[in-house]
Amino acid sequence: MTHYLITGATGGIGSVLAHRLAAQGNTLTLAARNLERLEALQGALPGVHRLVDTDLTTEAGAEVLAAALADQPPLDGAAHLVGSLLLKPAHRTDFSAWRAVMAANLDSAFLVLRLVAGAVQARRYPASLVLASSVAAGLGLANHEAIAAAKAGVEGLVRSAAATYAASGLRVNAIAPGLTATPLTAGLITSEAARAASTAMHPLGRLGTPEDQAAAVAFLLSSEASWITGQVLGVDGGLGRLRVR
Ligand SMILES: NC(=O)c1ccc[n+]([C@@H]2O[C@H](COP(=O)([O-])OP(=O)(O)OC[C@H]3O[C@@H](n4cnc5c(N)ncnc54)[C@H](OP(=O)(O)O)[C@@H]3O)[C@@H](O)[C@H]2O)c1
Repeated sequence: MTHYLITGATGGIGSVLAHRLAAQGNTLTLAARNLERLEALQGALPGVHRLVDTDLTTEAGAEVLAAALADQPPLDGAAHLVGSLLLKPAHRTDFSAWRAVMAANLDSAFLVLRLVAGAVQARRYPASLVLASSVAAGLGLANHEAIAAAKAGVEGLVRSAAATYAASGLRVNAIAPGLTATPLTAGLITSEAARAASTAMHPLGRLGTPEDQAAAVAFLLSSEASWITGQVLGVDGGLGRLRVR
């Protein structure tokens, strides 16, 4: 039996990943803050899965998750898909908003890394952790200061932790999505003009789908990626690396 943890399981990418992994017969632990949405997701999935409603920006919240995992089978993999978005230039960003972006994107990634790495260190079985970066970590996009800094931190976590835990059998990688249609980004593509402008930024000529991202996460979690660690996979329609005009 394969056991995966998905944090941010009720989100756009997390819920598609949950459907994908549950359909393959895997056992899931699904975490997010809102229990009603977790229960609705569980109701739509094949199989019975563990639900954990907790805030993963706090140590106490991460301990709730650790306690829930303690009586479960060992984790084979975890996808941390919690995050938030703030598009504002630095001079208009309140310090509290900066801190909130750091908490949702970087603090939560650290707390989940610490939890998963601790469990794997203790038992020394092969496992895979996938974190969520962003195309904005590697490309200077205007008004992305807070999220770019937080996700660059996530990429630093990936590389260092991949080195630290390689000998323990824990692989650590990340996806770096381009603009992907989920509840997180709904406010950015409310008009046809905004959607067209965002689409035009991506060389492959469309926005990302949650399925694009979930497929990449599922690959990095799987044994097919068993020789891949310390990598950040751009799932971004070419935005992060290409200039086509
Ligand atoms: N969509 C994109 O275009 C895009 C681009 C670049 C990077 N990403 C990254 O990809 C990841 C997934 O994005 P998404 O688009 O799927 O986001 P989403 O639809 O907003 O989903 C976020 C998920 O995280 C949960 N969550 C939020 N804050 C939490 C907290 N403090 N503790 C526990 N759970 C929390 C949410 O549920 P609750 O609110 O119930 O807790 C939800 O399940 C994020 O890290 C995001 O930064 C996405």
